[in-house]
Amino acid sequence: MSHSHFLSALKGENKLRPPVWLMRQAGRYLPEYQAMRKKYPFLEMCHTPELVKEVTMMPIKRFSFDAAILFSDILMIPEALNLGLRFEDGVGPIMDRPITSKEQIDSLPDIEMSVFSFIQEAIGLLKKELKVPLIGFAGAPFTVASYMVPKAKQFYLKNPEAFKKLLDRLTDITIDYLHIQVKAGVDAIQIFDSHLNLLSPKDVQEFSYPYLERIFKAFPHVSTILFSKGSHWPQLGHLPSKGLSCDWTQNLSEVRKAFPKKVIQGNLDPEILFAPKERVAQYVKECVEQMGGDPAYIFNLGHGILPNTPLESVETLIKTIDDLAFARSL
Ligand code: CP3
Repeated sequence: MSHSHFLSALKGENKLRPPVWLMRQAGRYLPEYQAMRKKYPFLEMCHTPELVKEVTMMPIKRFSFDAAILFSDILMIPEALNLGLRFEDGVGPIMDRPITSKEQIDSLPDIEMSVFSFIQEAIGLLKKELKVPLIGFAGAPFTVASYMVPKAKQFYLKNPEAFKKLLDRLTDITIDYLHIQVKAGVDAIQIFDSHLNLLSPKDVQEFSYPYLERIFKAFPHVSTILFSKGSHWPQLGHLPSKGLSCDWTQNLSEVRKAFPKKVIQGNLDPEILFAPKERVAQYVKECVEQMGGDPAYIFNLGHGILPNTPLESVETLIKTIDDLAFARSL
């Protein structure tokens, strides 16, 4: 791999423009993805290494992103736990056998890690072709559990110990699952705790933090990034992850002040990409400038890119960051 802005920023050593990739860049807003989805159901795509490779490469072929993110889903683990995962068009994920009792948590099956061999194979194929780093990922135990247990909060308020048992189980599996990805060659890992904005700081401390801590401690030599929604970064910044990815309600320079050693990623509101071109450029410029040439900054959105996002906006975003770097070097 030649020089990578992304890997330099992860080391805190980037002297050039900030690296750019977008959460959920491999998928739903791309016409070539929509065309492939007409031929294959989503889960079949996830399970087919050749298709995973193709979808992961789609945004890299179209735009000059600095990293690729593996095409997969945070719900591969509940699927392997036999909860009956399906995706219904226009509805999203459905579990046919959700967890509604303590007893079900005790009787979740053991998973043979070979069920994830498709991930290993897909990463192997990608590493042969990609010229930019590859990001692997998993969902955070709390966020994944909140898909497995309907009304998760009401459930944990009634059954905190059973819920923690589930979180512990998910943490063990997630660590093994990420080990597969690391061994197969991913260059960094992002953990998505997308639903953390639902919790109070106290509940974050009880139902998310310890499990995240266990995951990050298992990967001391891997570049790890934690994405969460909400305003919990003052707590989450103490986790042993290398980076923090923030949503657009956070002020990145405040995060930087509080955590001088973290890699910081974010945080453009994905809705901005529906604005006229000049406004997209203005917001992107302001987002980058708040970090003022920070060597440990990675540009991203504050959450996943939305369906129907105009492709020209993504082009404008990337060009704006290129032009800023050019202006700075004059
Ligand atoms: O980022 C990428 O481009 C890589 C692939 C990726 C997907 N899901 C593919 C996907 C990643 C990183 C995810 C993570 C994910 N999945 C999260 C965390 C990030 C976030 O957005 O909060 C969550 C909560 C999920 C669960 C999930 N998967 C939902 C709620 C849905 C339905 C809504 C949607 O995103 O369309 C999915 C389906 C899904 N995951 C699709 C894709 C490309 C769309 C499937 C389709 O084609 O119908």
